[in-house]
Amino acid sequence: MAASALQPLEDLDQPDFDAFAVERAMRGNHPDPYPLLERLRRQGSIHKLELHGLFSDEPDVEMSPLSHYAVLGYDACNRVLMDGETFTNKEAFQHSLGKSFGRTVTVMDGAEHERFRKVLQKAFLPKVVARWGDSLVAPVVDRLMSKFIDRGEADLITEYTHHFPFQIIYSMLLLDPDQAERFHKLAVAQLLSSAGHPQGPEATRKLGTFFAALLAQRRANPGDDLVSHLATVEVDGQYLDDDVLIAFLRQLVNAGGDTTYRATSILLTCLLNEPDLYEIVRRDRTLLPRAIEEALRWDGPVTTTFRYCQKDTEIDGVLIPEGSIVDVCLGSANRDPTKFENPNKFDINRERTVRHLSFAGGPHICVGQHLARVEMTRAMEAILDNLNNLRLDPDMPPPQIIGYVLRSPEHLYVKFDKA
Ligand code: HEM
Repeated sequence: MAASALQPLEDLDQPDFDAFAVERAMRGNHPDPYPLLERLRRQGSIHKLELHGLFSDEPDVEMSPLSHYAVLGYDACNRVLMDGETFTNKEAFQHSLGKSFGRTVTVMDGAEHERFRKVLQKAFLPKVVARWGDSLVAPVVDRLMSKFIDRGEADLITEYTHHFPFQIIYSMLLLDPDQAERFHKLAVAQLLSSAGHPQGPEATRKLGTFFAALLAQRRANPGDDLVSHLATVEVDGQYLDDDVLIAFLRQLVNAGGDTTYRATSILLTCLLNEPDLYEIVRRDRTLLPRAIEEALRWDGPVTTTFRYCQKDTEIDGVLIPEGSIVDVCLGSANRDPTKFENPNKFDINRERTVRHLSFAGGPHICVGQHLARVEMTRAMEAILDNLNNLRLDPDMPPPQIIGYVLRSPEHLYVKFDKA
């Protein structure tokens, strides 16, 4: 399918608008929310407060005015996530992701959610995404690495992790690689609606126009790619609604990239901060899956998700009134000492009897979790295989993981021996 037959994605009216800088400011630069979360969790697993306000100076114009309850304990978080009838998504996300993406699965509940989720889930099953390791992930990772491998030094965030999952998704959709930068910018700009920036709705509209044309094109002349599959799949004899598919594609170009890049950056930070551990993993690759899961638990990129309380509900002796927004703090649950021994330690050897909540849980558990694992594995393997004697650059600032709802370091300056 010739992507060039499509009108290119239209740029923002103000092409030099730095969506990345605005988004960074929105995420804040909080260095470490965990000590405060721990103090609060010790006082009780549920509090009447909005977590965003504790960690960011920039108010969320849509969400902050609502009444919030913060859920911090593992069992309480899990209970909220598993009970999709009492704690729903639509009202929780309609003012935020619903505005950015439209009618996507994150903003659906019950039977409607199940209908669309089934189709998407099939497209991202482990056996499907495992095949993408060679066909989609490896070429992107190799291309990015080829630009700095002969230099002996790099910023692994701005030159590698920040790009690879976005570019994998563009390849998955068979989009024109020349437009990757513009896609990345608009994918990020979509999220600026919640801080009141007009570029948010503008990016949402322009991506929508592009994806509507893409769906029509692939439906008329389907190939063997994800968009063709989604455009032509039938449920009860009907194609899936275009507005849902467009919203999903908007979500995919953002959520699929933003989270995975952050998770990989955090994992690299953890390992390079402990050079002996990095070397152990380099020599014994069977430890890589453990390191990935532990980084996701220790400092997962999505610290908090949200639900809406449909009816007065008591959890751990606290009444959450109908109509409240529930801040489900996955990051706090992942450091709950009743579930994880010595939870503040990054320990790839810990017993894995309890699953971390970094991909959430229940009906909305991350559709892309298997893909994220394949992407992280391949990106790490390329580093472990090719960057000899990799170490932090002693002459540059060390990596610092920052942010609240979404976390990651901004730079990771490294040196390595030239091949
Ligand atoms: C390490 C990487 C990732 C993390 C930490 C992550 C995290 C999450 C979390 C916490 C949720 C639940 C949101 C809620 O509470 O409703 C979620 C949902 C979702 N994720 Fe991911 N995600 C990652 C990668 C991906 C990738 C690669 C994709 C691309 C396919 C993806 C697509 C989605 C979608 C479509 C949903 C909505 C599912 C639903 O509402 O039924 N994610 N993700």
